[in-house]
Amino acid sequence: MSKIYKIITLPNPILRQKAVVVDFKKIDKKKLRQLAENMVATMRQSHGVGLAAPQVGQSLRVITIDQVDNPLTLINPIVKHFSWSKELGQEGCLSIPGVFGYVKRSVSISVEAQNLQGEKINFKAKGLLARVFQHEVDHLNGVLFIDKLTEVKDEKNVKM
Ligand code: CO
Repeated sequence: MSKIYKIITLPNPILRQKAVVVDFKKIDKKKLRQLAENMVATMRQSHGVGLAAPQVGQSLRVITIDQVDNPLTLINPIVKHFSWSKELGQEGCLSIPGVFGYVKRSVSISVEAQNLQGEKINFKAKGLLARVFQHEVDHLNGVLFIDKLTEVKDEKNVKM
């Protein structure tokens, strides 16, 4: 049974905090799995393409992404490589309702993270998926897309 969380919006200060690293030696794995499930349910309910744990009031380094066949949960994700090549793309954020705009991001990245079992995983992403990762990892560092906006637009709504 998953629970739909209330999404935290600005100016809640948790959105500006550096989220805490998940320590697999200490964390209750069942609780972590439940958090991941609830985050996926919350992301889908809000029609988001990504969600970071601070957005549901949990200052932990956990993100979910909905740009793949199955929703993906990543623990302690780190972008290991940003492509030199960047592009402008549209973004919005579930925590900043009504604001959309263009942000310059690396076209492709490589990510290192852990899965829900604590195993290391590595992969590459490009295009929108790479953009969503960069947006969500920024959330874990207290960085919001409005900090990086080049132009404000409101005709579309991609929420992350
Ligand atoms: Co966001």
